[in-house]
Amino acid sequence: MAFLSKFFDKKESRALGVDIGSSAIKVVELAKKNGQAALVTYGELALGPYAGFNVGQAVSLPPGKIAQAINDLLNEKEVGVTTRKCGLSIPFGSSLMSVIEMPEVSTKELAVMVPLEARKYIPVPISEVQIDWSVIPKSGVSRAEDELAGRNVAISAIPKIDVLIVAIHNETIARYQEIIAKSALEASFFEIEIFATGRAVLDEVLQPVMIIDIGAATTKLYVVERGIIRASHTVNRGSQDITGAISKSLGVAPAEAEVIKRQEGLVGENQNITDVSRLVLDYIFGEANVALLSFEKKYNRTIAKVILVGGGSALKGLANLAKEAFKTEVMSADPFSKVSAPAFLANILKETGPEFAVAIGLALRKLSEEE
Ligand SMILES: Nc1ncnc2c1ncn2[C@@H]1O[C@H](COP(=O)(O)OP(=O)(O)OP(=O)(O)O)[C@@H](O)[C@H]1O
Ligand SMILES: [Mg+2]
Repeated sequence: MAFLSKFFDKKESRALGVDIGSSAIKVVELAKKNGQAALVTYGELALGPYAGFNVGQAVSLPPGKIAQAINDLLNEKEVGVTTRKCGLSIPFGSSLMSVIEMPEVSTKELAVMVPLEARKYIPVPISEVQIDWSVIPKSGVSRAEDELAGRNVAISAIPKIDVLIVAIHNETIARYQEIIAKSALEASFFEIEIFATGRAVLDEVLQPVMIIDIGAATTKLYVVERGIIRASHTVNRGSQDITGAISKSLGVAPAEAEVIKRQEGLVGENQNITDVSRLVLDYIFGEANVALLSFEKKYNRTIAKVILVGGGSALKGLANLAKEAFKTEVMSADPFSKVSAPAFLANILKETGPEFAVAIGLALRKLSEEE
């Protein structure tokens, strides 16, 4: 990908998105070209080997080791990253989120009221977390919906607004600051991964959608509506369970099973591989279906579509299996479609896109800050 750099003027603003996943670091570099975001380069580095494990496995590493891996990826000639200015993702699991109802008062007043109100919803002392919040845009139909549903809409009462509160533990922030300090990166923000993903994969849709992020050790499920997370759930299965199942079933080492998994997917000749892989995916999609249907029932809303992201969703034949598993429309995310790129890369970008959704979303935000 490094060759793409030569298409860009050195003076153009550039931005890097850095997604530190549990099994791999992903980076995407964008440049502003004629006022539009254009792809400069992208790349990834498996973290497993930094802990003596295999490619594709989730590991937990100290900040120093992660910084070392970041620097290795930045120095990778084939990737050819040219800027150090970046935004970084924070795992969803390291955040606490709540939607609270507030009276519709001025932003200034909210700035005083929300932190006080937040104390009731954040299960740790407020001094131990950093709090961020934003007013959830109104759908424009909610009042009518309330009335239809027979809910009490008092005209005389002060109108209410929904406010999303996000809290991140100080220790988590400190950990990411240490990673930055020990690496060559210059980060200007940390963003919880699902917000970056949303920017990269969602269009202006009013109906809720379900995003399924298939990682190495876990699969994260989110229901997103009007840019906010209405529901979330983590399934304790991920793509490394497929590798494990293949390894056991064929009696081969995990490293070899990882290669076989990526080569064969669900479409190979060996029915054994397909069967054991499907077992893992049936479980994941089963859980996702339960979450989807319970959301629809609870809020009396229809989920418009299911969007697949994460490296695990790159498994050959997985999207088709997902289409069978859900009644709802299913699609693989195509986040690179939000940036301009040479036409000859179209196919590869479509294939690798789901894995880079977080990094693209981060880079898009960073690029917009660069103006
Ligand atoms: N082409 C592919 N085919 C099948 N599986 C793949 C492919 N590429 C990556 N994977 C699998 O995807 C998993 C990693 O996905 P991803 O990079 O999204 O996880 P992560 O971001 O590190 O995890 P998390 O978000 O849970 O922290 C690995 O288990 C890997 O084996
Ligand atoms: Mg991830």
